[in-house]
Amino acid sequence: MASYVIHGFLVVACALHQQVFGLAFPGIVPTPPTWPQAFSVSFSEILKFSGEVLAKNNGTWYYDYANRRARFVHGRGQRNSFCARQGLSPKDPQAPCSLVFLPGNMYVFYQESWTCCRLCGTDEGCTILKPDWIHSGSVLLSVETINGVKCYGYGKHGAVSVYDVLYSDESGTMCRYHEVVRNTQHNLTFYRDTYKVGPQPDWLFDIPKICSVICPHPFPQPPN
Ligand SMILES: *[C@@H]1O[C@H](CO)[C@@H](O)[C@H](O)[C@H]1NC(C)=O
Ligand SMILES: *[C@@H]1O[C@H](CO)[C@@H](O)[C@H](O)[C@H]1NC(C)=O
Repeated sequence: MASYVIHGFLVVACALHQQVFGLAFPGIVPTPPTWPQAFSVSFSEILKFSGEVLAKNNGTWYYDYANRRARFVHGRGQRNSFCARQGLSPKDPQAPCSLVFLPGNMYVFYQESWTCCRLCGTDEGCTILKPDWIHSGSVLLSVETINGVKCYGYGKHGAVSVYDVLYSDESGTMCRYHEVVRNTQHNLTFYRDTYKVGPQPDWLFDIPKICSVICPHPFPQPPN
């Protein structure tokens, strides 16, 4: 995830996975999916540190690659690291927060307090994921049943994580996004019945003018 995720640790596991690969995943497995040009999907998000739940919330991804824009809404209860550090909602830092990608720029936007800032842009690597990000160069790491559906987890080195893992079913519909960094585990488990392919409305990307103000802690920054 070009920017807003938390990371992974699986360098060492890589070689190991290669060895067990043949044994662990017998039979025919689907190839890693390519995303449609535009879709939306809701999810439940969990962030755990050393086994303890730091945050549990819902959210929605609005993805519109055709127009090079995306909006990732993290609902009430979120502790998204990019949202938290900008002081945009000091009284209620866990209020709903959106990460909005427009061509060349990424913004953090608290829609309830109507506060916003520009976090980073193309120069810092803040661009939206390409539809084929998991399709090319990923490795099958795990096959798991998620909410009753058999899902194939393909992993890839992320911008900040060592591995980002995307689980999808046989038809390519997403089941879960998963990443681990040191002691932090981060999952987005998608509500598959909310998955809708198709153009995204402009209003989602119509952010206030104040968003052009540079964030107090622009990305990249030293890890916390
Ligand atoms: C997330 O949404 C589901 C389905 O609408 C709801 O049952 C659940 O309570 C919500 N969870 C949180 C943490 O808001
Ligand atoms: C997070 O996802 C991983 C990989 O699917 C899974 O093993 C783990 O149990 C999940 N954790 C939670 C809290 O959902």
